[in-house]
Amino acid sequence: MSAPKAFVVGWPIAHSRSPLIHGFWLKRHGIEGTYVAEAVPPDAIDAFLRCFGERGYVGGNVTLPHKEAAFRSAAESTEVARKLEAANTLWLEDGRLHADNTDVHGFAANLDERASKWRKGGSALVIGAGGASRAVLWALIDAGFGKIALLNRTPARAEELARHFGRSVEAGGFERLTEALGEADLVVNATSAGLLDEAGLVIPWNAAKTSAVATDLVYVPLVTPFLEGAREEGLTIVDGLGMLLHQAVPGFERWFGIRPIVDDELRALVVADLAR
Ligand code: ATR
Repeated sequence: MSAPKAFVVGWPIAHSRSPLIHGFWLKRHGIEGTYVAEAVPPDAIDAFLRCFGERGYVGGNVTLPHKEAAFRSAAESTEVARKLEAANTLWLEDGRLHADNTDVHGFAANLDERASKWRKGGSALVIGAGGASRAVLWALIDAGFGKIALLNRTPARAEELARHFGRSVEAGGFERLTEALGEADLVVNATSAGLLDEAGLVIPWNAAKTSAVATDLVYVPLVTPFLEGAREEGLTIVDGLGMLLHQAVPGFERWFGIRPIVDDELRALVVADLAR
């Protein structure tokens, strides 16, 4: 059999750290495979997804803005991909395209590694209501959070997203931040604005429980102003880089046959690259 070849496809793709992560694992395990970045614009993604097998790929990762297209193209999908209506991991099986979404796993595994007390559940606050929030909400529901406040700059978007979930998810606007923060055992920034305070949103951290965990999906910078504020008030903070590292694990195992581990050496490699 020829050496397995996998891709990460997105538009743009130059910023992706996935080749670095998978390249590290290929080398560590002495696997003669390759993992390459493919820049594919929206008008060419359907053709790419139909034909990648003919180009020698066994599968790959999908990033923005193609996650929904990847889900729609698949003949088979996992339950979590169907819940999210988006896929980030693809492979061919019996000539058919299969899709999974490993963002829920990545989010949960990162918290398991760095703040395992989050599994106690309770009440959560999720800020932001885009595609990333949907994976976070499923992870929180799976982990047993009984009450989740979903607050967004545009409340209507939070309400629309909350409709996909049960009554445990309550949507609202930022005027409810202080109240929700006071109750939350876990606080998640799922907005794309890592520089939240520069963007004009002030988190009233002094209202938060010091026993709470705060995490951000943004990982550039590693400690965002959001996390900085939480740390100053004594909360446990977890940066978002681990989510990126952990979401890569299931795909690697699928394409290359070995389940890799996320460790300090990999993390340091990616941190060094982010600093460049
Ligand atoms: P993703 O798929 O990464 O979640 P997205 O769908 O573009 O990205 O969603 C971005 C999220 O960040 C939204 O919740 C957005 O709020 P709106 O729905 O009101 O646009 C939020 N966001 C982006 N910039 C923000 C800012 N400066 N302040 C607060 N929220 C912001």
